Amino acid sequence: MHHTAHYAGDRLLNEYCFTREGFEEPFSILYLYHPPTGEVESMPYTGAAWGSLEKRDATLLQRRHFRSSKEQPQGHFISGRTPIAFNDDLTYGLCHPAELDSAFFANNDADELFFLAQGEIDIQTLFGKLKLVSGDYLILPRSCPYRFNFSSPPKLIYVEAKQHLSIPDNFINVRGQLKMDAPYSERSFKCPEWDAELMERDEPVSIVRKRQGTFTHTCYSNNYFKMSGWDGYVYPYAINLNNIQPKTGRVHLPPVSHLTFAGGGFAVMSFLPRVLDFDEHAVPCPFYHSSVDCDELLFYHSGDFTSRKTIERGSISYHPSGIPHGPHPGAYKNSIGLKQTNEQAVMVDTFAPLFLTRQSEGLEDPDYPTSWQEGTS
Ligand SMILES: [Fe+2]
Repeated sequence: MHHTAHYAGDRLLNEYCFTREGFEEPFSILYLYHPPTGEVESMPYTGAAWGSLEKRDATLLQRRHFRSSKEQPQGHFISGRTPIAFNDDLTYGLCHPAELDSAFFANNDADELFFLAQGEIDIQTLFGKLKLVSGDYLILPRSCPYRFNFSSPPKLIYVEAKQHLSIPDNFINVRGQLKMDAPYSERSFKCPEWDAELMERDEPVSIVRKRQGTFTHTCYSNNYFKMSGWDGYVYPYAINLNNIQPKTGRVHLPPVSHLTFAGGGFAVMSFLPRVLDFDEHAVPCPFYHSSVDCDELLFYHSGDFTSRKTIERGSISYHPSGIPHGPHPGAYKNSIGLKQTNEQAVMVDTFAPLFLTRQSEGLEDPDYPTSWQEGTS
C-alpha cells in the first residue's frame, strides 16, 4: 500500500512522491535507500551559458534557414547547448555535446523534448535507462535528473517546454488508453528499464539543476538514485519516427494531421514517409499559406530535400507568422503526379512569436531569403 512502511531487508525505504500540478496531476512514487534531501554541498554552476537567453537586435521579418551542420560539438550534455529561438513558452536549440560528464542534470524550469538526429545515446535517469537511436524523440519530465552516455558525439535538437509537454489529450480515450486513430499505440514507446549499474550501487553523485535560468551544482555523499523500485505515471519515454503512423488523404492534409506532441503554447509534428494525396488532380506539396498565429521551425532529418533550395540534412527553416510560405519556386508544379515522399522532418509550431538568439546568427544561411524569388528556379 502507498504511504506505508516498505523495507529492503530490515532497511526502511524512503517514499519519494514525484508529482505534477501540485498533487492533482500524474505522479510517481519511488522507494529510495537515501532521503532525496541529503545534499552535502550546493554551489553555483557556471559551466553552462544557455540559461540566459539573449535576443538579437531588431531583425527583418523574413524566412530564415539555419544549418545545424555548422554547429561544432562542444562541451558535454549539460553545457553544450546552443539556443536558436525562444518565447515565454519554449526555447528551441541544438545540443551537440563533445564529451561525457559524470554529473547528472535536472531541468527544473521545463519539460524537455530531445530529437536525436545523429548518433546513439544511453541515457540514465531517475526512473531507469533508455537507449536512444537516430530518429528518436525523448520526453523528459521537468526536474527528472538524467545523464547522457555515448561513444561518439551525438547531434540533437532540444525544446524546453515551460508549461507542459505531453501526448495530445485528443489521442487518449476517457479511460486513459491511446485511441485507435492516434498515430501510435502504447507499444510504440520505449520506457525506462531497470538500471542496476545506477540504482544498486553505493557511490556519491552530483546533480546540476537549472531553475529560472540559473544552474546549481549539488553534491550527495550517497547514491541519490539507489532504490528498490518505483511505479506511477510520470517518467521519461521515447519514440522513434519509424514507430509513428503517418496520415494521408485524397488531397493535401494540413500539418495538424501530423501532430505528435502537444506543449503549452506550441505543437510538435512529424512529417514521415508516406503515400501522397491520391486525387488525380491533387497537388501533393503544401499549398501556400499564412498560418497567421504561428511561427514555424522545421528540422529536416532525412530524405531528398532537393526541391527545397539550399536545404540539406540538418537544416532548420524558420518561417515567422506574418509572412506567407509554402513550396519553393518550381516545387509546386513539379509535385503534381508524385505518389510517394520519403522525407522525415520534425516541426515545432508556436502560438506566440519567437525571438531569435544571438547564437543563431552564426548558423544562418544568408541566401535563403532570396531563394524564394520566382526567377531563381
Ligand atoms: Fe507552414
